[in-house]
Amino acid sequence: MPFLSKNEALEQVKQNILKDKVCPDLAAGATQLVFGDGDPNSSIVFIGEAPGKAEDSTGLPFVGAAGKFLNEMLETIDLKRSAVYITNIVKYRPPNNRDPMPEEKKAFLPYLQQQLEVIQPKIVVALGRHAASCFLPQLKISQDHGHAKRITLAFRDQPFTIVLLPLFHPAAALYNGSMRQTLIDDFSLIPDIISQLDNSELVLNK
Ligand code: URA
Repeated sequence: MPFLSKNEALEQVKQNILKDKVCPDLAAGATQLVFGDGDPNSSIVFIGEAPGKAEDSTGLPFVGAAGKFLNEMLETIDLKRSAVYITNIVKYRPPNNRDPMPEEKKAFLPYLQQQLEVIQPKIVVALGRHAASCFLPQLKISQDHGHAKRITLAFRDQPFTIVLLPLFHPAAALYNGSMRQTLIDDFSLIPDIISQLDNSELVLNK
């Protein structure tokens, strides 16, 4: 097998989604597949729920109102959007922006896992309960947001450890004053997690 760069390996994952005809009903109602965006060499991956209207028309995740808020929060912690990798669990826009269904999340999960295997991030920020429960099925986002957890991902034969930070979804927090502040406060934990990981002295609060 020839050596593939991360970008080439991710392109293969994308092509597999198309070839495997994942969620054909969702695909038929969507403009295009919204696969992911950003730096595949980043140590931080942000995972959302599913594309909305703006994402469906541009092919890029988090470019609508929720994406603007995400960009603002990244700025508050001095992280450039281009320096992180951003994707969603479900990669086609659900009709009328409805919540993704359990079978849709299940169908897309192996491809999200493949993306993570290629990127090998150190930190996964799960934006909202749909993304977070892919990793922690029992999670209650109202209780568990902002509590970083070290977990081992063992999808195929090469287990690797990440820090998972579950957060509220930016769209849910956008127009809710107290949730918005909570999300901003939880976001401010990210630089500490990064520097503690760099110094290998991460103490998790849960
Ligand atoms: N909400 C998401 O979960 N993902 C996007 O890409 C946009 C909005």
